[in-house]
Amino acid sequence: MPKKENILVLDLGTYGIKGLAVQRIADRYEVVAYAMVRTRGMDWSGLKDVVALRESIESVIMELEDEMGRDFYQKVRICFSDSSYAVSMDTKEVVLDSENPVEITQEIQEELLNNLGKESAFETDPTLMLHIFPMQYVIDDVKVVVNPLELEAKKLAVEAFTATVSASRFNTMNQLISEFLPAVDNEFVVPSLAAGYVVTTEAERERGVFVLDFGHSFVNVLGFVNSIPVFHETVPIGFRYVIKDVSRVLNTSISEAERIITSKGFASMNPPDPSEIVEYYALDGRTRRATTLRELAIIIYARTREILNKARRVALEAFSSLSRVYSEGVPTSVVITGGGAKLPGLTDTATDVFKSFVRIGTANTGSHIPIEGPDEVINNSAYSAVIGALTVPTRAGMATPEKRRKKKRSSILDFFRELFGWE
Ligand SMILES: Nc1ncnc2c1ncn2[C@@H]1O[C@H](COP(=O)(O)OP(=O)(O)OP(=O)(O)O)[C@@H](O)[C@H]1O
Ligand SMILES: [Mg+2]
Repeated sequence: MPKKENILVLDLGTYGIKGLAVQRIADRYEVVAYAMVRTRGMDWSGLKDVVALRESIESVIMELEDEMGRDFYQKVRICFSDSSYAVSMDTKEVVLDSENPVEITQEIQEELLNNLGKESAFETDPTLMLHIFPMQYVIDDVKVVVNPLELEAKKLAVEAFTATVSASRFNTMNQLISEFLPAVDNEFVVPSLAAGYVVTTEAERERGVFVLDFGHSFVNVLGFVNSIPVFHETVPIGFRYVIKDVSRVLNTSISEAERIITSKGFASMNPPDPSEIVEYYALDGRTRRATTLRELAIIIYARTREILNKARRVALEAFSSLSRVYSEGVPTSVVITGGGAKLPGLTDTATDVFKSFVRIGTANTGSHIPIEGPDEVINNSAYSAVIGALTVPTRAGMATPEKRRKKKRSSILDFFRELFGWE
């Protein structure tokens, strides 16, 4: 890997397209420029207008190129919002030799991993695998290890969680993207997985944590147990419903509703200054109207609570269907990220709903390889997915800098795990 490289990262959300120009210097990233534009041509139901979406993406790339120069990047990481992402468990086995044990090489391991999720090609809506998270390997049906390399086996099996997306949705997006970035090898990642990795600490992922990516159209719920993402569920009710409610109840436009929510909104029943007056324009754009912080907070609270309740239900259902990891106990902490997490008061309501420890997550609150950059990006929960796209383990980068460093640190533990077959 070259010592230095420039990376373009894009997060195509249904509200905003976020772009970063990032420089990697050895095992450290620096965000050198960033841009965000409102998304056009794509919403909760998917791609609506290719021309409009292309223009939105182009304007983000142009903004970055204005600062960085044309074609500044050697590598591209992309995520796009979609309702078809899924995380599921899969197992695969390969017979290496029926007579004599064979030493397991990296090629053997990669071939085995590449076979994961293969049957999906016969389904009516095939899926495409974007990430693999191996849990453990089984050698000759008996010996369980976390790293099979250099061991000998006649038969090797893997148990892994895989993250997939609908192949047809992926192909449409990939085609569009390759029009802009034809000469570059584009790597796609799942946005909420990216966000999940960048906002959580290693200890949280190990102990078990629910991550909520509170976006405009979707709230994606991700569960980590034993340091691995074990489920991913999409609640199709995002922040746009909060905005809709405010616009309906106060009889104002969507843009005016959004303006007062983002400047004065509060997501719990107890805003700090409840009788403060909030002024806004009625639907005609001229008549001045007024409400109080408390009234505004009640409208926001009602919908937010409903969304969080759904997210909790989905998380617990997904978790209870995981027989294997269930013995570890339900995660007792929740991290909320995405643009919706910027709403003050959200942690109070979420703590009440989840009856757990809840915090807001940004790239600044997670453990990952060092990423430097402007505060508006690193401390901004709307940028979690786009920054996380740098740190999430991808298929192509099974040995990313983060992974290699981690491996080095836990090598003695790995050694004992292999020696004694610990899980
Ligand atoms: N300061 C703020 N306070 C409250 N909400 C905010 C704030 N800033 C942005 N939002 C809301 O967050 C949402 C955008 O979040 P985000 O950028 O994570 O969405 P997205 O990734 O485009 O959507 P999705 O992932 O659902 O496709 C919008 O609904 C916006 O109104
Ligand atoms: Mg998003």
